[in-house]
Amino acid sequence: MKTKLPQIPTSIFTIMSAMAVKHDAINLSQGFPDFKSDPKLSALVAKSMTDGYNQYAPMAGDIKLREVICDKVQRLYDANYNAATDIVITAGATQAIFTAIAATISKGDEVIIFTPAYDCYAPTIHLFGGNVIELQLASPHYTPDWDEVKKVITSKTKMIIVNSPHNPSGMVFSEDDMLQLQHISEANDLIVISDEVYEHIIFDGEIHQSAARFLTLAKRTFIVASFGKTFHNTGWKMGYCIGPESLMKEFKKVHQYNVFSVNHPFQKGLAEYLQDENHYLHLGAFYQQKRDLFLDLIKDSRFKIIPSKGTYFQLLDFSEISNESDMVFAERLTKQNKLATIPISVFNKNKMDEKQIRVCFAKREETLKAAAAILKSL
Ligand SMILES: Cc1ncc(COP(=O)(O)O)c(C=O)c1O
Repeated sequence: MKTKLPQIPTSIFTIMSAMAVKHDAINLSQGFPDFKSDPKLSALVAKSMTDGYNQYAPMAGDIKLREVICDKVQRLYDANYNAATDIVITAGATQAIFTAIAATISKGDEVIIFTPAYDCYAPTIHLFGGNVIELQLASPHYTPDWDEVKKVITSKTKMIIVNSPHNPSGMVFSEDDMLQLQHISEANDLIVISDEVYEHIIFDGEIHQSAARFLTLAKRTFIVASFGKTFHNTGWKMGYCIGPESLMKEFKKVHQYNVFSVNHPFQKGLAEYLQDENHYLHLGAFYQQKRDLFLDLIKDSRFKIIPSKGTYFQLLDFSEISNESDMVFAERLTKQNKLATIPISVFNKNKMDEKQIRVCFAKREETLKAAAAILKSL
């Protein structure tokens, strides 16, 4: 049989996590916390099960959850979305991205993405016959060059995908970036996917520039979010997509035959838990404390470091330690030093190697201390 996706290797997350287990290494590779989600939230989900919410949820999701999210988006970003028509609860942000692309991208359409990019964008675009136009963000700051964006737009460009706060670099878009995106997408009639899974993990007093804040932009944008990133439970795979009714109408046409609806008791639990904004409003400070602790622990190491501005990832430039490729360096670090990280070249255009590895600092203090001791020894 002819494969539809000839270029797809095993994901680097699977490779590095498996290597971490095999070599009994500390795992700072894949992006997940090594501490527990709030027991109150788990209790609310368990209660929803005992209360009997164990059959199919409505196709777009539990209406109470959709309403709570719309209220939250209104309060935080001053944006009006209609819970009845503009939002769908999904199996994580990954399904939201897949469905948004499936609903809009056809053979020959061009989709602009910024690399290093989260790894589900390109294969999904290819699956639906689209062509990926990669624009490499320049290290070490990884800020977008909007003139470059304008240059690659053709009559076939249908979509642009953005991600801020950005995985893996920790860069965040400024208000000016969003205004440029708004202008370009409007002038060229582009659909936008704004991957905002780290919306609450932002540091140093910056504010998250959600696409929802920009009225004209919001009218052409699917915003995707992940409860896993916000509530420390990535394994629940719960998220949502919010956008204008015209786009979400198309989104639902795919969603209803893809999954129809997602996990009902988790939706009920999240609807209840989300009434309290305490958790997510303090998430930035919570992770900033971890970032600062980690950076302080490795300040005397030989890595070159620009502090992450958002997400729970930090890039480390190892060019003064080794001239190995990032793949070889990361593999050796896992096998010999017992620390698993992610080499960045796999997410770059043409697999460009800039001697950068990514570490996840969503970890307990003892994990960060143990990892820092290894990094300092290099
Ligand atoms: C930028 C980005 N988008 C999307 C996702 C996927 O989120 P989820 O686990 O909710 O599918 C991730 C997860 O690491 C991510 O980093």
